Amino acid sequence: MDKLDEETMARVMKKCYFMRPDLVMPGIMEKNNVLTNVKTMKVRDDDVYLVTYPKAGTNWACEILDAMLNIDNLEVLKTRSLFEKIPILEFGPSIHPDLVEDGIEHLPSNVKAVIDPMPSPRRIPTHLLPEYMPEEWHQKKPKTIVCDRNPKDCLISLLGWHRSTRFLSPLEWNELFEAYMQGLTVYGPYPDFTKAWAKYENEPWLMWIRYEDLRLNPKESFRKVAEFLGKDLTAEQIDQVIHVTSFDYMKKAMETVKDRDIFLNKKGVWQRKGVVGNWKEAFTISQNETFNKHYKEGMKGYEHLMYDC
Ligand code: A3P
Repeated sequence: MDKLDEETMARVMKKCYFMRPDLVMPGIMEKNNVLTNVKTMKVRDDDVYLVTYPKAGTNWACEILDAMLNIDNLEVLKTRSLFEKIPILEFGPSIHPDLVEDGIEHLPSNVKAVIDPMPSPRRIPTHLLPEYMPEEWHQKKPKTIVCDRNPKDCLISLLGWHRSTRFLSPLEWNELFEAYMQGLTVYGPYPDFTKAWAKYENEPWLMWIRYEDLRLNPKESFRKVAEFLGKDLTAEQIDQVIHVTSFDYMKKAMETVKDRDIFLNKKGVWQRKGVVGNWKEAFTISQNETFNKHYKEGMKGYEHLMYDC
């Protein structure tokens, strides 16, 4: 595959940096913050960590957990700012020069500003590889949910994110596809992420779920998540959680949520389509073949976790 030309490379890497030679990170997830504030963070026994590859439904899964943990007071969901709704563990501070240029340099580390003060039980989303998780997470092994999604749908969703968020730069589909194939999209290639987390897949404190199951079989999937959380929810309560976390309900709430404009540009959307198999609208036949080959090679030895796509 041809290397990206200089101009495209500059666009792909705008607002991003190399955490290490094989790992591109969004500039808003600052390396020093990950290596200090995240690493040394106080983990609570009743924390629930939510691990996702970018665009695998983080915001949705986080809202589901929040609703389940606050089932007796669902109104509280309406009071949350975007930072509180989706307190990404590694977020901040915004000291990357391209972000400073955008005038969003005042954002602090989420650990310090949002996560440390959060009342228990906390649900804490992250896209980090396990090696960057807090030291106390490794020791205490709190409940952790990995929410997986078809990597092709994650990639097409990432395209929308590049166009919607102030923390990445807009790209064309072909540019993003090439960037992914060359390991230059944020948080690195899907197989590296998935294999790193697969190390824990059989641990009793970790649950592996799929976006597609939540979407296509909500009653059963939501019930399993509630059980894992130790929440004995009635069928009626499960239905309530499904309702307040439905695509349309969340989309409406997101339009007026506090701090929205810090994350999204004027035309930005968080709830884009929320469907399974949307990749088919963007991938050419040749891109699909290239992706499948890369995916198959990357997931060697982990075929049981592969999507049939
Ligand atoms: P699409 O871009 O395919 O629509 P993340 O939160 O990790 O950034 O993931 C974003 C993806 O989750 C987007 O996918 C978004 O539409 C989808 N999503 C958000 N809320 C959802 C909901 N309530 N139900 C289903 N999908 C949802």
